[in-house]
Amino acid sequence: ADALKIGIAGLGTVGAALARILVSRANELAITCGRPIAIAAVSARDRSRDRGVDLSAATWFDTPEAMAETADIDVFVELVGGAEGPAERAVRAALARGLHVVTANKALLARHGVELARVAEEKGVLLNFEAAVAGGIPVIKALRESLTGNTVSRVYGIMNGTCNYILTRMEKEGLTFEACLKEAQRLGYAEADPTFDIEGNDTAHKLAILTTLAFGTEIAADEIYLEGISNISIEDIHAAAELGYRIKLLGVAQRTESGIEQRVHPTMVPHDSVIAQVDGVTNAVAIESDILGELLMVGPGAGGNATASAVLGDIADIAKSRPGAQRVPVLGTPAASLAPYRKAQ
Ligand code: NDP
Ligand code: HSE
Repeated sequence: ADALKIGIAGLGTVGAALARILVSRANELAITCGRPIAIAAVSARDRSRDRGVDLSAATWFDTPEAMAETADIDVFVELVGGAEGPAERAVRAALARGLHVVTANKALLARHGVELARVAEEKGVLLNFEAAVAGGIPVIKALRESLTGNTVSRVYGIMNGTCNYILTRMEKEGLTFEACLKEAQRLGYAEADPTFDIEGNDTAHKLAILTTLAFGTEIAADEIYLEGISNISIEDIHAAAELGYRIKLLGVAQRTESGIEQRVHPTMVPHDSVIAQVDGVTNAVAIESDILGELLMVGPGAGGNATASAVLGDIADIAKSRPGAQRVPVLGTPAASLAPYRKAQ
């Protein structure tokens, strides 16, 4: 069968990890996907940087937009980041050209997701974004496919690996907030601007995406009640421990009488609960629904390989899809309204 030609824009933590996997597992992937997957084009800022993989057979583009507009590819893989700027322009250009798009960019989806999804649906192409929420955990697939027919009442969890890594190491090793954040950046967990992690915006972006899939609301990340972890001290963590709790940054979306309530804030969770045991960069997402009951998914929430694994799954879905086949709608049609979160007094 013909190779699926992909272009990878962004060769940082995630993009380079993806490229390494695609090259080192090319034979196995060709069998699993029913056709070879070829990296036909790549783009990043610094052409001279070693990405740990031989990409000399791929055409180099100086900008993601140039790749989206002119590369000979079937799938545009966006791993640059940012809600606006080159990533946004390139994704729009790729969809307009009728290319499938795979992205891990939750900031982009939280801002423009519904609009981009509509363009993809109009063009009859796929917009896949499993890696945008909770890294390697297949939560998008769970909501879009596995839970079909269920009415979801609540989605919540630990959705930011950087914050959970910081809180865990502060508690278990007594390290300072700043030292833990630096280490999370070194390990490739943090966003390019880590304030998005520690102030809770990244969790809000992910929660907004889950909310729209779970409840069929418009995406409204800006309306989410938001509190990050930058003010959490080691004393707070120890005081919570003495009372039998651990502090976790949770995102919560739930059905209430007045609409869907969304909030992100540090939360005291009982020490013996499953979610309290989730340490380090690991994420956990719980989905409560009427037919299935409670589903809890725990797994790596950030990092090159964990995220690339989810991106690869999205690419494989495209490789296996038949042209003209009925598509799963990208994002839910609006069916519920959002309610502002009112903090308990
Ligand atoms: P990095 O910062 O490691 O990599 C970004 C890549 O994009 C680099 O190759 C960089 O080029 C390129 N780039 C950045 N700005 C521009 C620009 N203006 N024009 C052209 N190219 C540019 O990011 P990550 O790999 O960590 O993240 C990529 C995406 O994946 C983001 O949307 C992020 O939110 C998301 N994500 C990341 C996860 C993680 O664990 N890291 C987990 C889940 C999602 P160069 O290398 O030359 O500097
Ligand atoms: N910065 C994000 C995190 C990357 O730490 O969870 C994964 O989305």
